[in-house]
Amino acid sequence: MKKIEAIIRSEKLEDLREALDKQGLSAMTVTEVKGRGAQKGITLEWRVGEYRVEFIPKVKLEMVLEAKDVEKAVATILSICSTGKVGDGKIFISPIEEVIRIRTKEQGQSAL
Ligand SMILES: Nc1ncnc2c1ncn2[C@@H]1O[C@H](COP(=O)(O)OP(=O)(O)OP(=O)(O)O)[C@@H](O)[C@H]1O
Ligand SMILES: [Mg+2]
Repeated sequence: MKKIEAIIRSEKLEDLREALDKQGLSAMTVTEVKGRGAQKGITLEWRVGEYRVEFIPKVKLEMVLEAKDVEKAVATILSICSTGKVGDGKIFISPIEEVIRIRTKEQGQSAL
């Protein structure tokens, strides 16, 4: 099992959810986050001067899935969330040791 953590543009969330649903990937956790990447925030220019924003609001989507589904999920995220401009976000993939469904006490992939 793997965990995908995708930091995406907030406005992409609804389209991404729909596309993942169509792939049969529907279980996920979504969190509003703030972050910074290579450009370290942004500088906004106002008439009154410059205003520095160090952390930019994003959405973090977390999905734990069978390893065989990772490629499909990543392809879907890339196709929906890529605009080609800086700030499109990032995908982190890591191994998951165990999953337990609290209601039934099932463990492993059947608990996903
Ligand atoms: N190395 C990292 N570790 C943790 N979070 C990160 C990392 N890189 C990016 N993020 C998160 O992803 C968000 C979007 O990052 P962003 O897409 O700007 O990455 P980038 O490396 O600057 O790429 P780009 O040059 O395309 O903008 C950040 O606001 C931050 O929340
Ligand atoms: Mg960036």
